[in-house]
Amino acid sequence: MKVLIIGSGGREHAIAWKVAKSPKVTKIYCAPGNAGIEEIATCVPIGAMEFEKLAEFAAANEIDLTVVGPDDPLVGGAVDVFEARGLRVFGPRKNAAILEGSKAFSKDLMKKYNIPTAEYATFSDPKEALTYLETAKIPIVLKADGLALGKGVLICNTLEEAKAGVKTLMEDKEFGSAGDSIVIEEFMTGREVSVLSFVDGNTIRIMTSAQDHKRAKDNDEGLNTGGMGAFSPSPFYTDEVDAFCQKYVYQATVDAMKSEGRTFQGIIFFGLMLTREDGKIVPKVLEYNARFGDPETQVVLPRMKNDIIEVFEACIDQKLDQIELEFEDNAAVVVVLASDGYPVSYQKGFEITGQENFSGKEDYFLFHAGSKFDEAGRVVTNGGRVLGVTAKGATLKEARKKAYEATAWVDFENKYMRSDIGAAIL
Ligand code: AMP
Ligand code: GLY
Repeated sequence: MKVLIIGSGGREHAIAWKVAKSPKVTKIYCAPGNAGIEEIATCVPIGAMEFEKLAEFAAANEIDLTVVGPDDPLVGGAVDVFEARGLRVFGPRKNAAILEGSKAFSKDLMKKYNIPTAEYATFSDPKEALTYLETAKIPIVLKADGLALGKGVLICNTLEEAKAGVKTLMEDKEFGSAGDSIVIEEFMTGREVSVLSFVDGNTIRIMTSAQDHKRAKDNDEGLNTGGMGAFSPSPFYTDEVDAFCQKYVYQATVDAMKSEGRTFQGIIFFGLMLTREDGKIVPKVLEYNARFGDPETQVVLPRMKNDIIEVFEACIDQKLDQIELEFEDNAAVVVVLASDGYPVSYQKGFEITGQENFSGKEDYFLFHAGSKFDEAGRVVTNGGRVLGVTAKGATLKEARKKAYEATAWVDFENKYMRSDIGAAIL
């Protein structure tokens, strides 16, 4: 079968790599893809938001299955455009992707269906938001309602900061219309865990856990980024936490979406905070995403044993109850190699060397994010996050050691990475 993957990041490279392992697959296309994906797929220069062109391409090339990677096309309704043309596509429709597309929607859903999450209030009028803050408990969290590249969340440690945050989001519109409404939320403390899942509208199957590192600098300092590294599994995702979430979070979310007439088929990514109450661990939902996480996918999929095409198809055909997910009993760590200056400003166009050092090494993976071929045919840097270096090991400690060793195998000018990915677990 022929598969089209939409997107161009490390997540899409990891998905393409996993799709390529399926014996059912004869040909992979990726739009727009990157220089690493090009090795296993044919990249087509159509942007992820050009839905009509993408659907036209899928129809003309008799694509059997399209997988939508990023949040923007999902929230924008790419899946609906494909379905309207009778094309097979994996991912939530627009009316379900709102689970990620609107924080106000997701908070209201959790409240209505008693899914544990932080206390909150929603505002579309900045004056009302400011009045609310006067009597609110500090620290407090402000969130732009809409998509903001993972950067629309402000943790405010003083009332002044919070007031300035309202201005940034709602008046200066730093994140555009994403800040038309905001959610003001109780500040929570605890360990964070990411759990990805496949969902067919009725049944949910949980993948292995992971944790990413969002800040740009070591010791969780610096600005929020898309993610500078990740590890899987998370030792904090215990059987107790799993049992709690199975009971109160996972199925409850799928059922809630169905009850709302927004049947969700695709990936739900649960961002969980493991809070403590009276010495007991109480997981709460920080956020939902309607897609694979990046870089989490780069440590989760290399550990997955299933044929991912079978799982995608089961989600589309609502037969996920017939599938059990299986993961290797090991660990994986990904270290993101970024362009120095990310996420603010950075240079592009530097040659990437040493990729060949990864070939034939089973436990090591080089996933490309921001890379492309230049006119001379060289592979060059083309983004803030450039590469993801993943390694698997028997333990997290071993995987971490191997991943950091392998970061030296590739090079480019202005290469920057955090040195403490996974350090907290050791
Ligand atoms: P989100 O995009 O909602 O996951 O938020 C980004 C990051 O902000 C999370 O990964 C947390 O580290 C932090 N965060 C979000 N909401 C809260 C909260 N209510 N309390 C504490 N930290 C939060
Ligand atoms: N790594 C976080 C995300 O994909 O949203």
